Amino acid sequence: MCGIVGYIGKRKALPILLNGLKRLEYRGYDSAGVITLDQKNFFIEKEVGKIKNLEEKINKEFGEVDRIDGNVGIAHTRWATHGESSVKNAHPHKDCSGKFWLVHNGIIENYNELKSFLEKRGHKFISDTDTEVLAHLVEENYQGNLLKALETALKKVEGTYGIVLVSKNEPDKLIVARKGSPLLIGVGKDEIIVASDVSAIISYTDKVVYLNDGEIAEIKKDNFKIFNNIKKEEVAKKINKITWDIKEIEKSGFDHFMLKEIFEQKEVFLNAIKGRLLFSEGKAKLGGLDLVADKIRKIKRLIIIGCGSAYNAGVVGEYLIENLAGIPVELEYASEFRYRNSVLEDGVAILAISQSGETADTLAAIREAKEKGVLTLGIVNVVGSTISREVDAGIYNHAGPEISVASTKVFMSQVAVLVLMALYLGRQRKMSLSQGREIIDELQNLPKKIDKVLTLNDEIKKIAQKYFSMKNFAFLGRTYNEPLAFEGALKLKELSYIHAEGFPSGEMKHGPIAMIDKNFPCFFIAPNDSVFKKNLSNMEEIKSRQGKIIAISNKKDKKLEKIIDDLIIIPKTKEYLNPILALIPLQLFAYHMAVLNKKDVDKPRNLAKSVTVE
Ligand code: F6R
Repeated sequence: MCGIVGYIGKRKALPILLNGLKRLEYRGYDSAGVITLDQKNFFIEKEVGKIKNLEEKINKEFGEVDRIDGNVGIAHTRWATHGESSVKNAHPHKDCSGKFWLVHNGIIENYNELKSFLEKRGHKFISDTDTEVLAHLVEENYQGNLLKALETALKKVEGTYGIVLVSKNEPDKLIVARKGSPLLIGVGKDEIIVASDVSAIISYTDKVVYLNDGEIAEIKKDNFKIFNNIKKEEVAKKINKITWDIKEIEKSGFDHFMLKEIFEQKEVFLNAIKGRLLFSEGKAKLGGLDLVADKIRKIKRLIIIGCGSAYNAGVVGEYLIENLAGIPVELEYASEFRYRNSVLEDGVAILAISQSGETADTLAAIREAKEKGVLTLGIVNVVGSTISREVDAGIYNHAGPEISVASTKVFMSQVAVLVLMALYLGRQRKMSLSQGREIIDELQNLPKKIDKVLTLNDEIKKIAQKYFSMKNFAFLGRTYNEPLAFEGALKLKELSYIHAEGFPSGEMKHGPIAMIDKNFPCFFIAPNDSVFKKNLSNMEEIKSRQGKIIAISNKKDKKLEKIIDDLIIIPKTKEYLNPILALIPLQLFAYHMAVLNKKDVDKPRNLAKSVTVE
């Protein structure tokens, strides 16, 4: 989704802004723009498409980018919501006088009313965006104090925003404001970089201050002041240290971030369990939950919420927590939970799963649950993100930055953390010490098994070469692997734009099997578990309708080998841990299918990494 970078300091702003925008490319966008301010002169450029188009345009018109002066500036990548992707709609946007320019993430819900009001006052609009009203509102309210002008303007605004504003009238500062759309302040030496995402600032500083909703800040090159927009008081903020490494946001020799992230999964798994296993007690140590330990002991029902892959990971969690901890679990799409009147009796807790920690639907669902006095927990990857700060307690994934738009390593890590949570909750309830130790034992065996699955990459590529021109796929699994069927289908469709659906294997015969013919392959996740034979019967049903079958299993079974067309054998593990291993071939298959179909693997069309609008 849209990205923001702002710079004020001693260096030339333009190269830093463009570099920051490139770091945000993974979030998804369709146009980009930049403005720098050199004393009283603005340099402005906008372009549709990739940042390199913007850079080429600048180079063509002005020579090298570092020839452009100006130590203050703002830049933006836009993912169109109001108005098509075009130069006129790209940010930054300006007022009538051209003195006030701003970039904005989020949606101004009452922009139509505000626009009519402003037009009646003589303002002329040039774009189709909701954002432009903000620039005119600042102009309307400016009385010699830029901070005050934005503060007053925002009183009239309904919706969500992360805003950075510059003005010729006060060229030594940036004004930023946040409500519902992330913004952070990177504090360097004699320079400050603001951004919507940590990855835009980590090349320059590891010191960061996170803005909260309702905060507005005045930023100069060597200091900043943050105010609470409601109480109008200055707020003292903690400077946090970013633990991510710049190497983590580079491809390091891989063709795509997605492939790199798939291959990082052993490390990611180890990071998720590191320091969290207590073998002698057969328990998991989850320090983040200790804050609300008493309430957690009293949980009688858990509602897991998330979107997309995070939701699918949650379904694995449902099986894990119900079976291992004996707590009833329900799954809700965050986008549905926020608008339904769920019955939330005493003892209910909400667990939000989110890689970015910024997904608008998940955040709104958490707020709704908090409003109703329910305990809220989170499994979040991005440290300091809004969800991680708003839940009552939570667990970080520590998976590092995930740059590929399609989630791979973080899904793996979410499942790993859910195993730990099932262990933690289970040992407080019915789980015996020996079962706890058995889980820990196998968790410790998994890293080398993950490595083994990764060696199947070439084999999976060959399978993809056989099937890459197919137009439809079904993914099937039972129990713990049923959510993997949904995840496998999601990965294939989002990366290759091939129609793919996930089903519980037993559901096929209730309708979807009507679609099956020789051109509709089915991908089964069928380890040798308690439902292996049931999966075999479902494969027979597909086979008798000429459907092709690809299967992931951990057993070379004669019957299985007779039915399937292609078999991927992964190492054996406990039934409840199989998703951690079976996931990898699904990711690799989707990856190779996308490459063979010549798709933009890391940035699939129409998608954004972090969905901060409804
Ligand atoms: C799919 C994918 C999305 C996200 C979803 C939730 O590969 O990445 O489905 O899982 O948008 O995002 P987070 O986890 O950031 O809340």
